[in-house]
Amino acid sequence: MKTILWIHGFPLSPDVFEKQLAIENALHLMPSLPGFGDSAPPDGPMSIDDYAARMLSELDRKGIDKAVFAGLSMGGYICFAALRLAPERVERLILIDTRETADDDQGRQNRHATIEKVRAGGTAPVVEAMLPKMLTRGAPEEMRERVRSIMASASPAGTIAALEAMALRPDASPQLASIRVPVLIVVGEEDTITPPADAGRMAAAIPGARLERIPSAAHLSNYEQPQRFNAAVREFLR
Ligand code: MLT
Repeated sequence: MKTILWIHGFPLSPDVFEKQLAIENALHLMPSLPGFGDSAPPDGPMSIDDYAARMLSELDRKGIDKAVFAGLSMGGYICFAALRLAPERVERLILIDTRETADDDQGRQNRHATIEKVRAGGTAPVVEAMLPKMLTRGAPEEMRERVRSIMASASPAGTIAALEAMALRPDASPQLASIRVPVLIVVGEEDTITPPADAGRMAAAIPGARLERIPSAAHLSNYEQPQRFNAAVREFLR
C-alpha cells in the first residue's frame, strides 16, 4: 500500500483533500501546515524549506521512509523543496494546480500588500479575494461555502508566514529536468492562479511526466471535480 502525503495550499487546510479519502489502497497523510487547520502558528518566519522539513518530520513521526508527495499550489512549492532536501523520500510526485517558478517583483509586492491587509484586518480580505478564483463560476453554492469555511480557519500568523515564505521561495525550474520519479501534473482548465500554461511548461520539462487537464475546474481541481481527479490519481498509482 502506498502512503500519500497530501500537502495543502494557501490559505487552506487538509480539509481541501477530504474528497481524496475515497482513493482506496492508500494510507492518506494530511498534515496541517503551521497556522492552518488544527496546527499552531509558527513561532517566527518560515521558509518554503522549513515547511518541507515539517512534512519530512511528519513522515519520521509515522516511521515512513518514502511517500507519494501530492502538493496543491503552495503544497507543490513545498514538494519541490522536499525534492531538494530529501529526494530519496519522494517516491512519486503529484503536482496539483501549482507552478515551478518563483514570484516576480510584482508578485512579491502583491504578497507584501496582502501581508499589510492581514495585519490591519485579519484574514477575511484574503479569503474574499481568493474565493472567486478557487472554483469555477458554475460551482454549487454549498461547495463555495465549504471552501470559504476551510479558508476561514487560517490564522493571521500562519497566513503572514506563508505569504513571506512564498515571496522568497526559489525558482524550481532548474530542478525539473533531473526529476527521476514518476510525476502526475493535474490542472483545472479554468485555473487562473496557476493556469494550464504553467502545468504544460512543467510537463514539458519533467522527463516522462503525465499531464491531466480537468474541465469545469478552477484552482481547486481536486475539490471541484473529485471523480475525475481521483480517477487520474488511481491510474497514476496503478
Ligand atoms: C495556493 O493556492 O497555495 C496559492 O494560491 C499559491 C500562491 O499564492 O502562489
